Amino acid sequence: MSETHPDVYIQAFNLFGIVVAFYIALLQGWKLLRGIRSYILAGWWRTNLKKYGSWAVVTGATDGIGKAYARELAKRGLDVVLISRTLEKLKRVAAEIEQEFGCKTKIIQADYTRGSEMYQSIVDNLKGMEIGILVNNVGMSGSFHPTRFLAFPNIDKVIMDTINCNMLSVVEMTRIVLPQMVERKKGLVINLSSEVGNRPYPMSLIYSSSKGFVDFFSRGLHAEYKSFGITVQCVMPLFVSTDMTHNLGTNIFVKSASDYARDALNTVGYTNRTSGCLSHALQSYAVALLLPDAVLEFVLSLKIIADFFDKIQKKDEKNKKKK
Ligand SMILES: NC(=O)c1ccc[n+]([C@@H]2O[C@H](COP(=O)([O-])OP(=O)(O)OC[C@H]3O[C@@H](n4cnc5c(N)ncnc54)[C@H](OP(=O)(O)O)[C@@H]3O)[C@@H](O)[C@H]2O)c1
Repeated sequence: MSETHPDVYIQAFNLFGIVVAFYIALLQGWKLLRGIRSYILAGWWRTNLKKYGSWAVVTGATDGIGKAYARELAKRGLDVVLISRTLEKLKRVAAEIEQEFGCKTKIIQADYTRGSEMYQSIVDNLKGMEIGILVNNVGMSGSFHPTRFLAFPNIDKVIMDTINCNMLSVVEMTRIVLPQMVERKKGLVINLSSEVGNRPYPMSLIYSSSKGFVDFFSRGLHAEYKSFGITVQCVMPLFVSTDMTHNLGTNIFVKSASDYARDALNTVGYTNRTSGCLSHALQSYAVALLLPDAVLEFVLSLKIIADFFDKIQKKDEKNKKKK
């Protein structure tokens, strides 16, 4: 019987190594090209957002990322429906947008934590409108400070409010707006998830899980309705300076809401699941690479992380008192 020479094994092993290395290089190269297209080239070749229809509806539109989306959409030629809780803020932001961009606006006062009972008034208000874009932006985090599941002082309220505001709002608003998009065979639904929706984030679990839901719903909805001319995009930011993040100072990691909304809207038509901007895409890549689940769990439970969030919160409270 002839014996296989050991060199054959070495050659086979080398070949396997080359194939694996080639596959990894191809995959990373493809990711890089897609990144360049979505975050760099897309800034020059923006999708014409008016093609989806004349109106855009933005939930949670009077502050932070929602307000920035509303302004950017108005800037790009759309009329905007603003939905939030506070009437004075709605009136002020609507007047500001109309004056600055010369578009039409409509305001709807609604509190998404109230659950299914509040949607009939939204149905009535949006009746007959040609809505090309829906931005499901409204969301709440429960607590900025890292908090263990049972440690919320008002846990049952946090659970219901988060489910209503972060999850039910996305599904119900889509149910209301989608039919006329399907009828016209065009429409864009943008859902604000979060980097923490990518996988479970301990110490921010209710929020993280609700954002995971938004991601799943968006991906599935896109698959179901793309053949009807509908695009569904899931946007997953890291830190953006808003009230929710206690107005963190902006830097290369933390975006301002206006820069973020502009960059994220540039990615429409290029990607359906995005961190929204180059800085956040690179951070997301690094987090996935450097922090596998076990390391992430450990890091998030460190006191130094809790202290960091405390410090930001206290600084913001101090600044607000000064004003
Ligand atoms: N900021 C970040 O770093 C970050 C990161 C990842 C994901 N996100 C997601 O991005 C979205 C926007 O966040 P943001 O930071 O811009 O939030 P924000 O600054 O707290 O603004 C929230 C907006 O929603 C409105 N709102 C809040 N609760 C509401 C309710 N129950 N019903 C109706 N309107 C309500 C607020 O106006 P009123 O108070 O007048 O109602 C405001 O206009 C959220 O879904 C959030 O989870 C944010």
